[in-house]
Amino acid sequence: MTSFDVSGRKAIVTGGTRGLGMGMAEALLEAGAEVVIFGSGESAKAVAEEFRGRGFACHGLIVDLADAAARGAGFDAALALLGGRLDILVTAAGVQKRHKSEEFPLEDFDAVLEVNLTSVFDLCQRAARVMLPQGRGKIVNIASLLSFFGGLTVPAYAASKGGIAQLTKALANEWASQGICVNAIAPGYMATDMNTALLADAGRNAEITARIPARRWGVADDMKGPLLFLASEASDYVNGAILPVDGGYLGR
Ligand SMILES: NC(=O)c1ccc[n+]([C@@H]2O[C@H](COP(=O)([O-])OP(=O)(O)OC[C@H]3O[C@@H](n4cnc5c(N)ncnc54)[C@H](O)[C@@H]3O)[C@@H](O)[C@H]2O)c1
Repeated sequence: MTSFDVSGRKAIVTGGTRGLGMGMAEALLEAGAEVVIFGSGESAKAVAEEFRGRGFACHGLIVDLADAAARGAGFDAALALLGGRLDILVTAAGVQKRHKSEEFPLEDFDAVLEVNLTSVFDLCQRAARVMLPQGRGKIVNIASLLSFFGGLTVPAYAASKGGIAQLTKALANEWASQGICVNAIAPGYMATDMNTALLADAGRNAEITARIPARRWGVADDMKGPLLFLASEASDYVNGAILPVDGGYLGR
Protein backbone atom coordinates (compact mmCIF):
# COMPACT_ATOMS: atom_id res chain seq x y z
CA MET A 1 0.00 0.00 0.00
CA THR A 2 1.25 3.50 -0.77
CA SER A 3 2.53 5.20 2.38
CA PHE A 4 2.44 8.89 3.15
CA ASP A 5 3.56 8.04 6.69
CA VAL A 6 6.48 10.03 8.09
CA SER A 7 6.02 9.16 11.76
CA GLY A 8 9.32 8.73 13.55
CA ARG A 9 11.24 10.23 10.64
CA LYS A 10 14.03 12.71 11.45
CA ALA A 11 13.92 16.04 9.67
CA ILE A 12 15.60 19.42 9.35
CA VAL A 13 13.54 22.39 8.10
CA THR A 14 15.37 25.65 7.43
CA GLY A 15 13.29 28.80 7.70
CA GLY A 16 10.97 26.83 9.97
CA THR A 17 10.29 29.81 12.21
CA ARG A 18 7.61 31.46 10.08
CA GLY A 19 5.79 31.50 6.78
CA LEU A 20 5.99 28.53 4.44
CA GLY A 21 8.85 26.86 6.33
CA MET A 22 6.86 26.96 9.55
CA GLY A 23 3.84 25.47 7.78
CA MET A 24 5.95 22.64 6.39
CA ALA A 25 7.61 22.00 9.77
CA GLU A 26 4.12 21.83 11.28
CA ALA A 27 3.02 19.35 8.61
CA LEU A 28 5.89 17.01 9.48
CA LEU A 29 5.33 17.41 13.22
CA GLU A 30 1.58 16.79 12.92
CA ALA A 31 2.41 13.63 10.96
CA GLY A 32 4.68 12.38 13.76
CA ALA A 33 8.18 13.29 12.57
CA GLU A 34 10.91 14.74 14.79
CA VAL A 35 11.99 18.11 13.43
CA VAL A 36 14.86 20.53 13.97
CA ILE A 37 13.96 23.99 12.74
CA PHE A 38 16.67 26.46 11.77
CA GLY A 39 16.00 30.17 12.14
CA SER A 40 18.19 33.24 11.98
CA GLY A 41 17.13 34.61 15.39
CA GLU A 42 15.74 33.86 18.83
CA SER A 43 12.38 32.92 17.31
CA ALA A 44 13.91 29.54 16.39
CA LYS A 45 13.89 28.63 20.08
CA ALA A 46 10.49 30.21 20.79
CA VAL A 47 8.74 28.54 17.86
CA ALA A 48 10.22 25.14 18.75
CA GLU A 49 9.07 25.57 22.33
CA GLU A 50 5.57 26.43 21.14
CA PHE A 51 5.53 23.25 19.03
CA ARG A 52 6.81 21.20 21.98
CA GLY A 53 3.97 22.68 24.07
CA ARG A 54 1.60 21.08 21.57
CA GLY A 55 3.22 17.70 22.21
CA PHE A 56 5.44 17.62 19.12
CA ALA A 57 9.09 16.49 18.94
CA CYS A 58 10.64 19.77 17.85
CA HIS A 59 14.02 21.47 18.42
CA GLY A 60 15.04 24.99 17.44
CA LEU A 61 18.52 26.12 16.43
CA ILE A 62 19.75 29.61 15.64
CA VAL A 63 21.73 29.22 12.43
CA ASP A 64 22.73 32.13 10.20
CA LEU A 65 22.64 30.46 6.79
CA ALA A 66 24.67 33.32 5.31
CA ASP A 67 27.63 32.15 7.41
CA ALA A 68 29.32 28.99 6.11
CA ALA A 69 30.88 28.08 9.47
CA ALA A 70 27.56 28.54 11.28
CA ARG A 71 25.85 26.35 8.68
CA GLY A 72 28.26 23.48 9.29
CA ALA A 73 28.02 23.79 13.07
CA GLY A 74 24.23 24.05 12.86
CA PHE A 75 23.96 20.95 10.71
CA ASP A 76 26.18 18.94 13.08
CA ALA A 77 24.18 20.14 16.10
CA ALA A 78 20.91 19.17 14.39
CA LEU A 79 22.23 15.73 13.54
CA ALA A 80 23.27 15.19 17.16
CA LEU A 81 19.77 16.19 18.33
CA LEU A 82 18.29 13.70 15.86
CA GLY A 83 20.51 10.85 17.05
CA GLY A 84 22.73 10.79 13.96
CA ARG A 85 19.96 10.02 11.46
CA LEU A 86 18.43 12.31 8.85
CA ASP A 87 15.49 11.22 6.70
CA ILE A 88 14.17 14.55 5.43
CA LEU A 89 15.76 17.90 4.60
CA VAL A 90 13.55 20.86 3.67
CA THR A 91 15.42 24.00 2.61
CA ALA A 92 12.78 26.70 3.01
CA ALA A 93 14.84 29.68 4.22
CA GLY A 94 15.05 32.45 1.69
CA VAL A 95 15.52 36.18 1.30
CA GLN A 96 14.35 38.73 -1.21
CA LYS A 97 15.87 42.09 -2.18
CA ARG A 98 14.36 44.46 -4.71
CA HIS A 99 16.20 47.13 -6.73
CA LYS A 100 16.22 48.10 -10.38
CA SER A 101 18.79 45.85 -12.02
CA GLU A 102 21.03 48.75 -13.09
CA GLU A 103 21.19 49.88 -9.46
CA PHE A 104 21.27 46.47 -7.74
CA PRO A 105 24.19 46.52 -5.24
CA LEU A 106 26.60 43.64 -5.78
CA GLU A 107 26.66 42.96 -2.04
CA ASP A 108 22.88 42.47 -2.05
CA PHE A 109 23.22 40.15 -5.04
CA ASP A 110 25.83 38.08 -3.19
CA ALA A 111 23.75 38.06 0.01
CA VAL A 112 20.69 36.67 -1.79
CA LEU A 113 22.71 34.04 -3.65
CA GLU A 114 24.46 32.94 -0.45
CA VAL A 115 21.24 32.24 1.48
CA ASN A 116 18.97 31.14 -1.37
CA LEU A 117 21.39 28.97 -3.37
CA THR A 118 24.86 28.38 -1.89
CA SER A 119 23.54 27.46 1.55
CA VAL A 120 21.06 25.08 -0.06
CA PHE A 121 23.83 23.26 -1.93
CA ASP A 122 25.92 23.14 1.26
CA LEU A 123 23.07 21.61 3.30
CA CYS A 124 22.07 19.17 0.53
CA GLN A 125 25.68 17.98 0.35
CA ARG A 126 25.88 17.57 4.13
CA ALA A 127 22.52 15.76 4.15
CA ALA A 128 23.60 13.41 1.35
CA ARG A 129 26.71 12.40 3.29
CA VAL A 130 24.33 11.10 5.98
CA MET A 131 21.61 9.77 3.67
CA LEU A 132 23.86 7.89 1.22
CA PRO A 133 25.09 5.41 3.86
CA GLN A 134 21.47 5.09 5.09
CA GLY A 135 20.42 4.15 1.57
CA ARG A 136 17.48 6.54 1.63
CA GLY A 137 16.47 10.12 2.20
CA LYS A 138 14.20 12.89 0.96
CA ILE A 139 15.38 16.37 0.09
CA VAL A 140 12.79 19.03 -0.71
CA ASN A 141 14.08 22.39 -1.90
CA ILE A 142 11.88 25.44 -2.20
CA ALA A 143 11.93 26.94 -5.66
CA SER A 144 9.57 29.67 -6.90
CA LEU A 145 7.65 30.89 -9.92
CA LEU A 146 10.86 32.90 -10.34
CA SER A 147 12.55 29.58 -11.16
CA PHE A 148 10.63 29.95 -14.45
CA PHE A 149 9.99 33.69 -14.82
CA GLY A 150 12.53 36.49 -14.63
CA GLY A 151 10.39 38.98 -12.71
CA LEU A 152 11.10 42.69 -12.37
CA THR A 153 13.63 44.27 -9.97
CA VAL A 154 14.50 40.84 -8.51
CA PRO A 155 17.49 39.65 -10.60
CA ALA A 156 19.28 38.04 -7.64
CA TYR A 157 16.17 36.21 -6.43
CA ALA A 158 15.35 35.02 -9.97
CA ALA A 159 18.92 33.82 -10.50
CA SER A 160 18.93 32.04 -7.14
CA LYS A 161 15.59 30.30 -7.71
CA GLY A 162 16.44 29.38 -11.30
CA GLY A 163 19.57 27.90 -9.75
CA ILE A 164 17.49 25.93 -7.24
CA ALA A 165 15.56 24.24 -10.06
CA GLN A 166 18.78 23.26 -11.84
CA LEU A 167 20.54 22.23 -8.62
CA THR A 168 17.57 20.01 -7.72
CA LYS A 169 17.82 18.20 -11.06
CA ALA A 170 21.62 17.93 -10.90
CA LEU A 171 21.57 16.37 -7.42
CA ALA A 172 18.65 14.09 -8.30
CA ASN A 173 20.61 12.72 -11.26
CA GLU A 174 23.52 11.68 -9.05
CA TRP A 175 21.64 10.42 -6.00
CA ALA A 176 18.37 8.90 -7.29
CA SER A 177 19.91 5.46 -7.84
CA GLN A 178 21.16 5.49 -4.25
CA GLY A 179 17.78 6.05 -2.61
CA ILE A 180 17.81 9.82 -2.21
CA CYS A 181 14.94 11.69 -3.82
CA VAL A 182 15.72 15.33 -4.50
CA ASN A 183 12.74 17.44 -5.57
CA ALA A 184 11.51 21.00 -5.24
CA ILE A 185 8.23 22.77 -4.61
CA ALA A 186 7.66 25.98 -6.53
CA PRO A 187 5.15 28.03 -4.52
CA GLY A 188 3.15 30.69 -6.33
CA TYR A 189 2.02 33.93 -4.72
CA MET A 190 1.82 33.09 -1.03
CA ALA A 191 0.59 35.42 1.71
CA THR A 192 3.67 35.58 3.98
CA ASP A 193 5.97 38.24 5.44
CA MET A 194 8.08 38.03 2.28
CA ASN A 195 5.21 39.58 0.30
CA THR A 196 4.06 42.25 2.77
CA ALA A 197 4.75 45.01 0.23
CA LEU A 198 2.86 43.29 -2.62
CA LEU A 199 -0.08 42.40 -0.38
CA ALA A 200 -0.35 45.99 0.81
CA ASP A 201 -0.37 47.38 -2.75
CA ALA A 202 -4.10 47.10 -3.57
CA GLY A 203 -3.56 47.55 -7.31
CA ARG A 204 -0.82 44.94 -7.69
CA ASN A 205 -2.62 42.61 -5.32
CA ALA A 206 -5.81 42.70 -7.40
CA GLU A 207 -3.83 42.30 -10.64
CA ILE A 208 -2.05 39.21 -9.27
CA THR A 209 -5.20 37.65 -7.83
CA ALA A 210 -7.02 38.07 -11.13
CA ARG A 211 -4.29 36.08 -12.89
CA ILE A 212 -4.37 33.16 -10.42
CA PRO A 213 -6.84 30.52 -11.70
CA ALA A 214 -7.70 29.59 -8.08
CA ARG A 215 -8.49 33.33 -7.52
CA ARG A 216 -6.66 33.55 -4.20
CA TRP A 217 -3.16 33.83 -2.80
CA GLY A 218 -1.71 30.65 -1.30
CA VAL A 219 -1.15 30.18 2.44
CA ALA A 220 1.36 28.08 4.40
CA ASP A 221 -1.20 25.29 4.85
CA ASP A 222 -1.28 24.81 1.07
CA MET A 223 2.30 23.51 1.29
CA LYS A 224 1.46 20.69 3.71
CA GLY A 225 0.05 18.02 1.38
CA PRO A 226 2.68 18.48 -1.35
CA LEU A 227 5.46 18.42 1.27
CA LEU A 228 4.18 15.20 2.88
CA PHE A 229 4.00 13.62 -0.57
CA LEU A 230 7.61 14.55 -1.38
CA ALA A 231 8.87 13.65 2.12
CA SER A 232 7.27 10.18 2.22
CA GLU A 233 7.53 6.89 0.35
CA ALA A 234 4.57 7.97 -1.78
CA SER A 235 7.07 9.84 -3.99
CA ASP A 236 9.83 7.21 -4.17
CA TYR A 237 9.83 7.29 -8.01
CA VAL A 238 9.71 11.10 -8.21
CA ASN A 239 13.16 12.58 -8.82
CA GLY A 240 14.28 16.01 -9.92
CA ALA A 241 10.71 17.33 -10.16
CA ILE A 242 9.74 20.95 -9.60
CA LEU A 243 6.17 20.79 -8.29
CA PRO A 244 4.23 24.03 -8.68
CA VAL A 245 1.90 24.86 -5.77
CA ASP A 246 0.53 28.03 -7.27
CA GLY A 247 -3.23 27.84 -7.74
CA GLY A 248 -2.60 27.25 -11.43
CA TYR A 249 -0.57 30.44 -12.10
CA LEU A 250 2.11 28.76 -14.25
CA GLY A 251 -0.48 27.24 -16.54
CA ARG A 252 -1.85 30.55 -17.73
N1 LIG B 1 5.94 33.84 -0.14
C1 LIG B 1 5.96 33.53 -1.43
O1 LIG B 1 5.12 34.01 -2.20
C2 LIG B 1 6.98 32.60 -1.98
C3 LIG B 1 6.86 32.20 -3.30
C4 LIG B 1 7.79 31.35 -3.85
C5 LIG B 1 8.82 30.90 -3.08
N2 LIG B 1 8.95 31.29 -1.79
C6 LIG B 1 10.07 30.75 -1.03
O2 LIG B 1 9.59 30.05 0.09
C7 LIG B 1 10.55 30.10 1.13
C8 LIG B 1 9.88 30.63 2.39
O3 LIG B 1 9.42 31.94 2.14
P1 LIG B 1 8.35 32.71 3.04
O4 LIG B 1 7.41 33.36 2.14
O5 LIG B 1 7.85 31.79 4.10
O6 LIG B 1 9.29 33.84 3.63
P2 LIG B 1 9.48 34.44 5.08
O7 LIG B 1 10.20 35.71 4.86
O8 LIG B 1 8.20 34.44 5.84
O9 LIG B 1 10.43 33.37 5.78
C9 LIG B 1 11.77 33.23 5.39
C10 LIG B 1 12.48 32.35 6.38
O10 LIG B 1 13.87 32.29 6.01
C11 LIG B 1 14.65 32.48 7.16
N3 LIG B 1 15.93 33.10 6.82
C12 LIG B 1 16.15 34.17 6.01
N4 LIG B 1 17.46 34.48 6.00
C13 LIG B 1 18.08 33.58 6.80
C14 LIG B 1 19.41 33.38 7.23
N5 LIG B 1 20.42 34.17 6.82
N6 LIG B 1 19.68 32.37 8.08
C15 LIG B 1 18.69 31.56 8.53
N7 LIG B 1 17.40 31.70 8.15
C16 LIG B 1 17.10 32.70 7.32
C17 LIG B 1 13.84 33.38 8.07
O11 LIG B 1 14.25 33.21 9.41
C18 LIG B 1 12.43 32.87 7.81
O12 LIG B 1 12.13 31.79 8.67
C19 LIG B 1 11.68 31.00 0.61
O13 LIG B 1 12.70 30.19 0.06
C20 LIG B 1 11.02 31.79 -0.47
O14 LIG B 1 11.94 32.25 -1.42
C21 LIG B 1 8.04 32.13 -1.21
